[in-house]
Amino acid sequence: MIDNLINQLDRICKNAEEEISSAASLVQLSELHTKFLGRKGLVAQLMSEMRNLSQEEKPKLGQKANIVKNDISKILVKKEDELQANEDAEKIQSDKIDVSLPGTQQKAGGIHPLTQTINEIIDIFVQLGFTVEEGKEIEDEWHTFDALNIPKSHPARDVQDTFFVKSSPEIDVSENQTVLRTHTSPVQIRVMQNSVPPLKFIAPGRVYRNETIDASHYSMFHQVEGLYVNENVTFAELKGTLLAWAHAYYGPDVDLRFRPSYFPFTEPSAEVDVTCTMCGGKGCSVCKQTGWVEILGAGMVHPNVFKSVGYDPEKITGFAFGMGPERIAMLKHRINDIRLLYENDTRFLKQFV
Ligand code: DAH
Repeated sequence: MIDNLINQLDRICKNAEEEISSAASLVQLSELHTKFLGRKGLVAQLMSEMRNLSQEEKPKLGQKANIVKNDISKILVKKEDELQANEDAEKIQSDKIDVSLPGTQQKAGGIHPLTQTINEIIDIFVQLGFTVEEGKEIEDEWHTFDALNIPKSHPARDVQDTFFVKSSPEIDVSENQTVLRTHTSPVQIRVMQNSVPPLKFIAPGRVYRNETIDASHYSMFHQVEGLYVNENVTFAELKGTLLAWAHAYYGPDVDLRFRPSYFPFTEPSAEVDVTCTMCGGKGCSVCKQTGWVEILGAGMVHPNVFKSVGYDPEKITGFAFGMGPERIAMLKHRINDIRLLYENDTRFLKQFV
């Protein structure tokens, strides 16, 4: 009985050796492990005969079984190493990458050059103590014009320039029509209506004008409005504030030039030029040989504007200004066509990332 069992163990061992040596994959190898050494495998099955043996025979079979199990294990491990090495080699071969191939370019997003300019303008005014306010892009005529001392007959109110939101064939000028704001100045009115002086804020935002689009005109553009209201505000403070801004934005070498001008909502009014940064003021094609480029309009708030918001113009004074970030960005980056700012052509935009 015992001899027969030992022979059987030898046979199992031999079979295992043969089958393992011809295993072609790790999966197959694992199946063979189960088949021979598993809990219900061939060796284990044979061991269940143990209970029929005598006390002296039992350890003999036990020893033999251990030897066989050990041998099969060793063969399995050896084969496993071999198959693993093959698989690794195949994987290395199939995963092989050509390091000389050009990489896939990661395209990073960026902030639009106009947004960059507006943000830079805002940051400087915030450092100068201005807060940031927002108004409405869809406004009414009263806030856009009347309250800003712009009379009914003013050309800016013309249908030619203003987008009326509810367009009827005949616009009744006596009504307070809804319009797309043509400038950010109505934000002055809205903020003053809701607060008491002193006030010091800027109001960046979009404005709309019914203009024929060309290289320097677009039907939508931006403005940054500014307003400082307090008692005893002077023109000198306006100049000082704008010069401080210009030095922070353009550098300490630029100067500002105030030219007398006219705006209905300021008196006196000025158009303000900055030293041409292209030529340093010597004169070039950008500044049309003048050495100056116009960047904003400004002035002392007109008493009628204060009256329209219920402030006492005898007590309250202020300065206001409005600048055009498109123009500032175009001068800064030498962009010669405003339309480039709105086409979202990535070939253009990626220059500013
Ligand atoms: N609102 C003017 C415009 O649209 C710009 C402007 C000029 C604003 C002078 C002001 C100012 O506040 O004082 O052209």
